[in-house]
Amino acid sequence: MDRDLLSIDDLSPGELGQLLELSAKVKAQPGDYADRLAGRSVAMIFEKPSTRTRVSFEIAIASTGGHPVPLSSADLQLGRGETIEDTGRVLSRYVQAIVLRTFEQERLEVLASAASVPVVNALSDFEHPCQCLADLLTIKEVKGELAGKIVTYLGDGNNVTHSLLFGGAKAGMHVRAGTPPGFEPIPQVVQRASDIAAETGGSVTITHDPIEASRGADVLYTDVWASMGQEAESDERALVFPAYALDAEKVAVAAPDVTVMHCLPAHRGQEIASDVIDGPHSVVW
Ligand code: NVA
Repeated sequence: MDRDLLSIDDLSPGELGQLLELSAKVKAQPGDYADRLAGRSVAMIFEKPSTRTRVSFEIAIASTGGHPVPLSSADLQLGRGETIEDTGRVLSRYVQAIVLRTFEQERLEVLASAASVPVVNALSDFEHPCQCLADLLTIKEVKGELAGKIVTYLGDGNNVTHSLLFGGAKAGMHVRAGTPPGFEPIPQVVQRASDIAAETGGSVTITHDPIEASRGADVLYTDVWASMGQEAESDERALVFPAYALDAEKVAVAAPDVTVMHCLPAHRGQEIASDVIDGPHSVVW
């Protein structure tokens, strides 16, 4: 079936729960899934750098019996002006799914409509749905359940925040984002996540107060202040964000058993303190 995963919002709350249950089973008994993708190939196109996502996809595809085909746009004719539509049409003749890491979300949508095989978002400027699925699985493992838990994101209202807002709301969590003024998640995402939370018993709170955001949190989460493609803004952002760093002050006001998370790559001493990322509350590693 040609079902894409471009956004966490492509999954119903029930489907999200089923995917997390399946993920836990695969993780516990990988041998039971060793030939699930036998005879199938998956193209993985990276238009931005990647460490964890690229390795995760490649290992996951190979360890379920499939054949991963990692591609960078520099290697493809895409880098010489072939359209994403034509790339999708051609790849659909060879592979059974396409994974894409790119800039605009629209590029994923265009690829998905041209391709006849499923397309998976491996990060765009708008969302990082697979990161969110992995994070929810981790939170479930550590806390036992998702519904009712408070997850606080501190820092830039970016792709990772958007997916966490959608995913946390679908799981019935209380999702808070503490960002500097001007760096909030986009209003349409906040609205949609709030609507979802109203159905699931969760809630969404956006604030500029990082301490209030952190108070009583079960999970504290952060990400880089300047995402891929925003490197030129790094110095300017470094002036605005320090109050939102995930440091001992935030951990002190959170729940006593708070879990600390970061999607990585991390910049110690900027968005997260060294003693926090490498400390006893961290499940980053
Ligand atoms: N917000 C970050 C996430 C990296 C995994 C970025 O887009 O660069």
